[in-house]
Amino acid sequence: MSYKIVDYSEEYGSIMQFGKNKSVYIHRWYPFVEGYSKEFISKIVDEYRKLHKCKDIICLEPFAGSGTTPLELQDMGYLCYSFEVSPFMYDLACCKMETTYTTKSLDNYCEQIANYFNEPDVYSEEKIKTDFKTLVEQEGINKWLLNRDVRLGILDVLEGINKFQSKKYQRLFKVALASILLEVSNVYRNGKCVSYKDNWKEVINYSREDVHKIFLNRLNNVFRIDILQMEKIKSQKKLFSNRKYCYHGDCRELIFNKVPDNTINLVITSPPYLNSRDYTDTYMVELKSLGYMEDLTDVRQLREKTLRSHVQIKWGELETLEIDELKKALDGIEKYKDKFWNSELLNMIRGYFLDINTLFNGLSKKMASDGMIFFNVANSAYYNVEIEVDMIVCKIAENNGFKVEEIREARRVKTSSQQKGISEGLRESVIVIKK
Ligand SMILES: C[S@@+](CC[C@H](N)C(=O)[O-])C[C@H]1O[C@@H](n2cnc3c(N)ncnc32)[C@H](O)[C@@H]1O
Repeated sequence: MSYKIVDYSEEYGSIMQFGKNKSVYIHRWYPFVEGYSKEFISKIVDEYRKLHKCKDIICLEPFAGSGTTPLELQDMGYLCYSFEVSPFMYDLACCKMETTYTTKSLDNYCEQIANYFNEPDVYSEEKIKTDFKTLVEQEGINKWLLNRDVRLGILDVLEGINKFQSKKYQRLFKVALASILLEVSNVYRNGKCVSYKDNWKEVINYSREDVHKIFLNRLNNVFRIDILQMEKIKSQKKLFSNRKYCYHGDCRELIFNKVPDNTINLVITSPPYLNSRDYTDTYMVELKSLGYMEDLTDVRQLREKTLRSHVQIKWGELETLEIDELKKALDGIEKYKDKFWNSELLNMIRGYFLDINTLFNGLSKKMASDGMIFFNVANSAYYNVEIEVDMIVCKIAENNGFKVEEIREARRVKTSSQQKGISEGLRESVIVIKK
């Protein structure tokens, strides 16, 4: 199996990461690590439009994440269906796609919550501590994500938000709270999971009032400025929103029942990579402290619905897709079975491609005859055996009736310790696929 690999490091190298979005109107509402930049979307849309000379494009993003794709497409006036399984990411994406905020309402709600901070509730110990043992400082544990005062400050914000009449502003304020969480917590995101900040026990010392203050500052210094800008844009043109086309749930199911057949012209997406990272872990502070998850059953249920790119769930015996490159990689890795750090490793790899296959099966029904897919993935390696994810995805696409145009190499990514080294790094690419 061999597909054309084209060097796109100059075109895509700097726009495949979310970093560029960090100071951009609305995209900046929450710093998301695993996303790409808005320029990536606009570049692809330009290319598609040049090729097809069409005005209306209907798009699909099966893995919405922080909503970069549908948000950028709505700014360009294009309809985009999107799916997101994580309740937090879903809220984040929807909140950013909403176009009806006003500074007047924002100011009113800010005032309402500031008043509430003056006389906040007294919380029971049960409410403060939760079912997650290491979430909040307590006797008998030596590591915790949130100091007790920080937890109280967060609860104040959540309780204040609950008193709002508008669900839309509840969501907006919750996202604003999410965006300050790591700052006031004892951890930082290290890619795979979260790690404790240096000397956190000595240096992290936020009071309950500090949390209120940082939260209100973020609303005023970031969200309010962008909503003011939104009002200015709205005074000149009507804004289109993809909010109502964004669905919460598992794209492996939603793709079959939320999108009309033969309608999608363009898919731009990036699934979780096959790197055994679990988004439930990476975003545990948000999920656990903002009420998205109450206990371990909720954690497990979410993990079961996510793409099988992690080893946190035992999937049972899984079949292997009939793809030579996949079988070769599995055979190569199986030789290291005695050294496996997790017994589910091979099943994760099998399950990942079964899931991608389900997705392409759905896409084959939903894409229009001129449809194109831009699929951003990275290769993986375990025990020095490389899994050429892009090549295998190409084969899956072909097996589902698509034609592979080319693989565009965007950059080389470092291997993580669990993936073990391939000296030149692993290819991160954008696969261009046509109906
Ligand atoms: C790489 S991120 C997408 C980032 C996005 N392109 C952006 O710029 O924000 C992958 C997303 O897929 C979501 N996801 C994982 N499994 C899913 C599933 N089965 N259905 C829908 N979304 C899923 C994850 O929660 C994560 O937010």
